[in-house]
Amino acid sequence: MTTPKHYRVAILGSGFGGLGMAAQLVRAGETDFAVFEKADSVGGVWRDNTYPGAACDTQAHVYCYTFFPHLRVSKMFAGQDEMLGYQQQLRDAFGLERHMHYGAEIVEARWVEEEAHWFLRLRNGEEYTADFFIPAWGQLNSPKVPEWEGRERFRGIQFHSAEWRHDVDLKGKKVISIGSAASAVQYVPFVAEDAERLEVFQRSANYILPREQIEFTEEQLDTFEQHPETFEASRRAIHELREAGFERTRSNTSGQAEGAQEAIDYLHSVIEDPELRAKLTPAYEFGCKRILRTSAYYPTFLRENVSLVTDGISHFTERGIVTADGVEHEADVIIYGTGFHSQNFQGDLRIVGREGVTLAERWGEEDAEAYVGLSVDGFPNMFLMYGPNTNLNHNSVVTMLEIQQAYVIDALRKTAGIEGASVEVRRDRLDAFNEALQDEMRGSAYSSDCSSWYKNSKGKVVNNWSGTVEEYRDLAGSFEFEDYVVRSTAAVPA
Ligand SMILES: Cc1cc2nc3c(=O)[nH]c(=O)nc-3n(C[C@H](O)[C@H](O)[C@H](O)COP(=O)(O)OP(=O)(O)OC[C@H]3O[C@@H](n4cnc5c(N)ncnc54)[C@H](O)[C@@H]3O)c2cc1C
Ligand SMILES: NC(=O)c1ccc[n+]([C@@H]2O[C@H](COP(=O)([O-])OP(=O)(O)OC[C@H]3O[C@@H](n4cnc5c(N)ncnc54)[C@H](OP(=O)(O)O)[C@@H]3O)[C@@H](O)[C@H]2O)c1
Repeated sequence: MTTPKHYRVAILGSGFGGLGMAAQLVRAGETDFAVFEKADSVGGVWRDNTYPGAACDTQAHVYCYTFFPHLRVSKMFAGQDEMLGYQQQLRDAFGLERHMHYGAEIVEARWVEEEAHWFLRLRNGEEYTADFFIPAWGQLNSPKVPEWEGRERFRGIQFHSAEWRHDVDLKGKKVISIGSAASAVQYVPFVAEDAERLEVFQRSANYILPREQIEFTEEQLDTFEQHPETFEASRRAIHELREAGFERTRSNTSGQAEGAQEAIDYLHSVIEDPELRAKLTPAYEFGCKRILRTSAYYPTFLRENVSLVTDGISHFTERGIVTADGVEHEADVIIYGTGFHSQNFQGDLRIVGREGVTLAERWGEEDAEAYVGLSVDGFPNMFLMYGPNTNLNHNSVVTMLEIQQAYVIDALRKTAGIEGASVEVRRDRLDAFNEALQDEMRGSAYSSDCSSWYKNSKGKVVNNWSGTVEEYRDLAGSFEFEDYVVRSTAAVPA
């Protein structure tokens, strides 16, 4: 039997999280690492979401790493192609290609106590070991389609927004699109242009603010490139503005009321028909779900060929969908903008920690928790990227990822001198962190009454961070030994 190849660090996934982690390792002088990606290329959600209109809704100047500013991004709310392109540039600039394993789905990760390392098994049968394991499988890459009665009977074409069928020409087709959130509001205006008839099925209305797009001139881009401090100033100003906007997601604040009013005013400025206005008016607190930014969605409902359906879905037929009022809506194509399995925090693999306990067992069905979103007791030398309670509504997830990566680098640096080091977060630290976080959540719009992917079925917010990014940085700014049980193989008698 051959000994598996060993790395100091093994990263799972090559989206913003995994690639950024790899780049940070290179910056720290670490070369003994590998990135395992189940797909055949980098990019994560920006590789997968190619639907028409896919774009970031966080300004591109904050939706990139500070150590690798996206200096020539052409517009503030840049499209999927530029988001993917940025990640490819990141890969090339830091020489990451030689560390990549593609078609490399990790199906099992097992902590080996005696060796103080992780054993990794891939779907293709390959095996590896690593001192540190950094899962970066994201929160939004497993498409979800609800199980409506008779869905399999539908004879037309059906697909999810994250698995867009570019081979399907929507021209002249009758199309139904289900969902009215971040993905749907981006592709619906484009589908409306092609389809003969488009029916948008909405279960809940969303708060929408207009997107104030900025397209940069060549001259501006040259300035950013020649004087990166001007880009940095722009990044900082946007970051601060968005941090101030966090208050809008706190219940019963003037900021929240202001945000709601802005959204309603915008709705009223575009939609005059009282019945349509009423249907598009959210019936829950501002900030409970993701606040959307688009100037193209509401005007779509002024088109002759588009209608908004708010009656619930009863069942599917061979020809389309029957709503609760008994009406059959016929379609050639059904598009699901119905989101993702966002609480699948343990990924699709089996992770086995100390004493044979799996991560799925440690967390139960839907109670994922981690110290500063990074560390779980019983799982030494494992740091999660974009783990539980690290998603944001008000600012850039990439800024959170950068803080997490710096924490890991700090941990690697501080443990480098310990032979066979393993660090396991103390349960009391995790519990105290989580209690404070959930306490904060009580005053947050995220916990209020609406359906959202931020909460589990018991209403506990498990996806989102409870504060500002800077509050997170204060807590996760450095790795501290006192938060961890530190072990060394040198201390174990032979
Ligand atoms: C359409 C869309 C738009 C978004 N826009 C914004 C935005 O504007 N602003 C914002 O802040 N956030 C946005 N987000 C949130 C986004 O998820 C994060 O910003 C960020 O891109 C997540 O990166 P990640 O690397 O953590 O995860 P992902 O991008 O999901 O990458 C995970 C990677 O892990 C791989 N993988 C998974 N399991 C395995 C396995 N077992 N073995 C090997 N590889 C595996 C996957 O193939 C994938 O490449 C958006 C999300 C979506 C879906
Ligand atoms: N940069 C961007 O602009 C962008 C674009 C896409 C995605 N994203 C990220 O990805 C996240 C997910 O966005 P998403 O739009 O793909 O998913 P989502 O926010 O989970 O929205 C899913 C939509 O499908 C509807 N839906 C789900 N189940 C349903 C059912 N059984 N019957 C009827 N309707 C149902 C939901 O209605 P309810 O609201 O009633 O639950 C909602 O409108 C976003 O919050 C954001 O973080 C960002």
